Amino acid sequence: MKMMKTPLLLLVFLCVAWAQDVLEYDDYDLDNKISPKPNKTTDGAAVDARGHRPLDRARESYTSRYAPPPISGGSRYRGRPTAAPVGGPKKQEKVPQPESGGCTHASEEMGVLCPTGCELKTTLTKQEKNVKLVIDELKPELDELSQSSNRIFDYVNGMSNSLRERQRLVTDNNQVVVQFTDQVEENHAYIKEVVDTVFPSNIRVLEGVLNKIRQKIQKLETAIQAQREKCKDPCMTKCPIPVVSGKECEDIYRRGGTESQMYMVQPDPLYPPYKAFCDQTTQNGGWLLIQNRLDGSVDFGRRWDEYRRGFGNIAFPASKRHCEIPGEYWLGNERISQLTKTGPTEVLIEMEDWEGTKVHAKYSRFTVQSETSNFVMAVEGYSGNAGNCFLEGSPELFGENRTMTIHNGMMFSTYDRDNDNWNPGDPSKQCAREDGGGWWYNRCHSANPNGRYYIGGPYTKQMAKHGTDDGVVWMNWKGSWYSLKAISMKIKPFFASR
Ligand SMILES: *[C@@H]1O[C@H](CO)[C@@H](O)[C@H](O)[C@H]1NC(C)=O
Ligand SMILES: *[C@@H]1O[C@H](CO)[C@@H](O)[C@H](O)[C@H]1NC(C)=O
Repeated sequence: MKMMKTPLLLLVFLCVAWAQDVLEYDDYDLDNKISPKPNKTTDGAAVDARGHRPLDRARESYTSRYAPPPISGGSRYRGRPTAAPVGGPKKQEKVPQPESGGCTHASEEMGVLCPTGCELKTTLTKQEKNVKLVIDELKPELDELSQSSNRIFDYVNGMSNSLRERQRLVTDNNQVVVQFTDQVEENHAYIKEVVDTVFPSNIRVLEGVLNKIRQKIQKLETAIQAQREKCKDPCMTKCPIPVVSGKECEDIYRRGGTESQMYMVQPDPLYPPYKAFCDQTTQNGGWLLIQNRLDGSVDFGRRWDEYRRGFGNIAFPASKRHCEIPGEYWLGNERISQLTKTGPTEVLIEMEDWEGTKVHAKYSRFTVQSETSNFVMAVEGYSGNAGNCFLEGSPELFGENRTMTIHNGMMFSTYDRDNDNWNPGDPSKQCAREDGGGWWYNRCHSANPNGRYYIGGPYTKQMAKHGTDDGVVWMNWKGSWYSLKAISMKIKPFFASR
């Protein structure tokens, strides 16, 4: 019995334990990725320009600078019985009767009995001979009879022995059946008890668990649907890799790779080569694309690790031979840092509005430090017609408000790594959470190239997830509430043109 109960109980508890495990497995909340921002009402001063986070003079100060039981023990048969010894046939010895007779009188005075008596005797003796013959004839028959009766005796004897044996077996079997029935009854009682008491409560628990799992599945299905939506466009495309490769795009250009397309670059022989898009036509070519937005096909609201390694699609094929169409991507802070630290590097930021107007900003020096310093960015030497966001901040703002929007000298921030200049250490005040992407946020931005992609251009506070200007913004050209159609950042080793 115990051997029965234990597995049953184990099974029940295992089921419950398993179900609870499942519950604990995915205790995450899809919606907690970005904490909601309290509904702040801006004070009277209706400045259309956003980008900055005004000081609360009472508390803050700003310093410019980041898953039927067998019956054991015996067979139904007992050992075979040894045949009962059959007693030898007892032959009945026939005792020959002695012949007697006489013709003498009892008393001599009476003389001899009549002579005819003696004749009688003779006759009788003769007859006796005949009788003897008949008897002799009958004797074998008698013997035969006697023998066959012995055989019958033996047979009957055997029959009754086997009958007794059978009776004994029947009795034994009855005992076994009774024993078995008892066990079955006991088991039945136990199972009934379990079914009546333990199961209902466990079933209730399991039903609860099932419900929760259903809810989770629904949630997951919603999430999967959302992901499908996102992946409607191909995530990665295999492109043929050109024969020409080099340290970076300028090196490739000099080796004859003068067409704008995807190439393999290897700035440092100690590190493996990687794919990058080279713009070999704009401004004499040699430009390596480090950032690109053009259709909103890639989500830029990503974690620190992703920004460090890089993400997105390098390029798509326009023909079978080349990957000439750049995709949306971020090259990766590690690579950007390595490239800019190799030597003097310039950066070209090109952008386009929804009417097709294009402007650009260029910095003759652009450096991104290593991860140990949170990828601090520095620029100098502005030229162009888009406006000097990196060095000057938004011209729509004044004083501290403008200083808060300068990007030069800022560390890199993502929603999971706050290095910005807006109340450092306060998790409710993080630029990267409110403004949609990873960037060199100050408090917070005048330029937000990695922001959310809004189709059409103008967008409003109500459309923004946190009420902030989280679009693909370049304030110095289109202000806070216009999200650009396209923007890209390209770098190139700086050298004096002759
Ligand atoms: C925020 O406040 C404005 C009015 O100041 C209101 O129109 C809007 O619905 C509020 N939003 C939320 C999310 O409470
Ligand atoms: C900074 O901005 C806040 C609100 O946006 C405004 O009240 C304040 O006057 C501004 N400061 C300066 C120096 O313009």
